[in-house]
Amino acid sequence: MVGPKAIIHLGRLKANYDLVKQKVHGKQIMAVVKANGYGHGGIACAKALENHGCRFFAVFSFDEGVELRNAGIKSDILLLSRLDARRIDEAIDHGLILNISNKLDFTPLITYAKKIGTCPKVHLKVDTGMTRLGIDFDDAANLIQKLKDHPEIRCEGIYSHFATADEGDLSYARKQESRFNSILDFCAKEGVSFKYIHFSNSGAILNMDQSRYDIVRVGMLLYGAFPSNEVPMEIPFQPVMEFKAPVVSVRRVPAGTHVSYGGVYETKLDTHIGVIQCGFADGFPRAWYKDGYVSYQGKQFKIAGRVCMDQFMVDFGDTLPKKGDDVLMIGKDKLDTVRMETIADQIQSTPYVIATAIGGRTERIYQD
Ligand SMILES: Cc1ncc(COP(=O)(O)O)c(C=O)c1O
Repeated sequence: MVGPKAIIHLGRLKANYDLVKQKVHGKQIMAVVKANGYGHGGIACAKALENHGCRFFAVFSFDEGVELRNAGIKSDILLLSRLDARRIDEAIDHGLILNISNKLDFTPLITYAKKIGTCPKVHLKVDTGMTRLGIDFDDAANLIQKLKDHPEIRCEGIYSHFATADEGDLSYARKQESRFNSILDFCAKEGVSFKYIHFSNSGAILNMDQSRYDIVRVGMLLYGAFPSNEVPMEIPFQPVMEFKAPVVSVRRVPAGTHVSYGGVYETKLDTHIGVIQCGFADGFPRAWYKDGYVSYQGKQFKIAGRVCMDQFMVDFGDTLPKKGDDVLMIGKDKLDTVRMETIADQIQSTPYVIATAIGGRTERIYQD
């Protein structure tokens, strides 16, 4: 295909998994493969990780969970989205684990269990400061008591989510941690125990103590990017993706030539301008054109002018790229690395936005 390709290196995914495992001293890993595995292909990533020993996955939507099951994933799958009372049957059929993230989620489960005699497994999510899904911190004691009174609710896990664990200032994360710890202490006092206690995402794995948790919910580090530029970066996580696209046309132009929409790029010298067949409709970050570059045969060349919907241009200087050769846009090939974190930094975005946007006409090619 003439167009963008995302080569997904499953070997690097597994190596990153091993690095996370080492970092958390062998604790279990819940691999977060929502949003099509952060743009890397959710099913292929889950299969590779399951073959590598991962036994727990998290996705966001109900349909993402069903898709993994239908693809043959046997491990536990937690749905992070709000419980949908209309799909409790289906959760049982597909063996999906639901989320209690609101005090109103108890009633449909209790009603269902009364009627059918069984219930899907659930995890209880507590809001400790993200102010997104999760039962209110102030309701936690009552609702934990409710779990105790209703053993038909098969609650295997309790968890929360950090809002700032990937930041340099960890004071808010520590506040969340201490709230969660007080709930865990209350549970212990009441004799309510859980098979799984989890809190940590990628930032927290790098920054926070893991001793009270049995499993970590990790996404970004598995795909080989750091969640922000404020976390320690010593561990050699490798970008799983190699996002490339071909040069489809090259022309020699004189100094003073304007390139692309708005004509904002003007060549300083006589140069080769190459057209790359990939645009913002394929997930190439449009804002990256200002300071952006691509790598060709291990050398970096400036993006020339605004990224278009389907194409963008590169200033190759005196290098004459071969038509049909690929340039590396994001990730790592044999000769070079263009890290998502670098791009995110330059364009005031995050690796999460960049990774999940990659798509459009991009062909995903899996290599082990
Ligand atoms: C609830 C929840 N847990 C875990 C994760 C994984 O986070 P990360 O990719 O930073 O590891 C996410 C990601 O958005 C999430 O929403």
